[in-house]
Amino acid sequence: MTSQSYSPGLNGVIAAEIGVSLLDTDLEQIVVRGYDLIELAQNLNYTDVAYLVIYGELPTEAQGLEFCQTLAEQCEIPEALFQLFEMMPKSTVAMDALRTGISFLAGFEDPELLNDNSREANLKKGIKLLAQVPSLTVNSYRALNNMPFVRPDPSLRYMENFMYMLRGEKPDAVSLDAFDRIHTCYIEHEMPNSTFVARAIASTLADMYGAMVGSVASLKGPLHGGANEAAIEFILDIEKEGGSLRAEPYVMEKLAANATIMGFGHRVYMKKYDPRAKFLMEYIPKLASRIDNGEALMSIYNTVEQTMFREKALYPNTDFPIGLLYYELGIPIPLYTPIFLASRVAGNIAHVVEQHENNSLFRPRVIYNGARNLHPPSSPISPG
Ligand code: CMC
Repeated sequence: MTSQSYSPGLNGVIAAEIGVSLLDTDLEQIVVRGYDLIELAQNLNYTDVAYLVIYGELPTEAQGLEFCQTLAEQCEIPEALFQLFEMMPKSTVAMDALRTGISFLAGFEDPELLNDNSREANLKKGIKLLAQVPSLTVNSYRALNNMPFVRPDPSLRYMENFMYMLRGEKPDAVSLDAFDRIHTCYIEHEMPNSTFVARAIASTLADMYGAMVGSVASLKGPLHGGANEAAIEFILDIEKEGGSLRAEPYVMEKLAANATIMGFGHRVYMKKYDPRAKFLMEYIPKLASRIDNGEALMSIYNTVEQTMFREKALYPNTDFPIGLLYYELGIPIPLYTPIFLASRVAGNIAHVVEQHENNSLFRPRVIYNGARNLHPPSSPISPG
């Protein structure tokens, strides 16, 4: 192995041949199963797009209906999960609680099904997880914050139910519409770290739950999904320090200190606009009047974006507008990344199915720069 084949962070390395999605940076398009993701988000519901991502084709009306019914029938989580959430230290991070919840769920799976990696078995497990993940996401957070549980209501539509559990009441149409479109934008994104991790885990022939748990751990990081929480914290910090007039000097100070501004840049797009950010930023003014400081935060948002472009030629990625949009929707900040994960479950199901169907174990090599030819002393050093 020579240094010529080494790419730190696997930058630019082709890791798999996949049919789920592609980031076409030339056309500035996120291709999902042959469709433009933004067109899907403009026209369809999250559940329609989830069906497409998972099964590879858009549902017929009957298939769409059946899919939604299956999700509704399976939305309850085992009672023991509620007890688990109550037992967790209150200092647990919401994303870690979700990770633990998914891991715990694996124990409730029929052992034969758990270890069956056939397409049929994977779809069964995956769709159950997709049905349960909204309740896991919201109710783990509720327990950590001494809030009463809100159990899913199977009579509600999938995304309506998600918002109902978040708010404790049915959402208004405008909130639901925005929440659904954001969720669709997060659904699938080719080979980000969390998808790569899910596929790497699946490539050992480990099960769907294990792959999903690894994916949660990966998505938590601020360079990945955690950026949506970091992005709104950044905007709120500027507001606290003086508002939009403070935005430009604040960014300049951070850049002078070589700080990374969360919600900007992307390994793949980098010098181009993330199409999801371009689409979703239109919703920011539409929701601004829902919070007292909506106009002020929007003005900070715009100044940060302009300053980042002028200074670094970097555009926002999708986490920058979504951080503000979730805030406008009144969602507690620690839930931003768990909700991102909940959306990405659909994409991960498709990737695990695909990996198991055409598997090759992920096992790269390294350039070794450690010591060689050392020898231990001939007797133990410590009592052991
Ligand atoms: N703020 C300041 N400088 C940046 C930023 C940023 N957000 N992003 C990139 N740069 C600069 C970086 O300092 C470097 O400059 P130089 O060449 O002078 O050293 C150059 O751009 C290349 O950056 P890099 O970090 O080497 O590139 P990468 O491909 O390893 O990183 C990234 C991509 C997403 C990790 C990075 O842009 C970043 O840290 N962004 C902030 C975190 C973030 O928003 N993550 C969400 C990603 S999109 C949603 C998702 O997939 O979860």
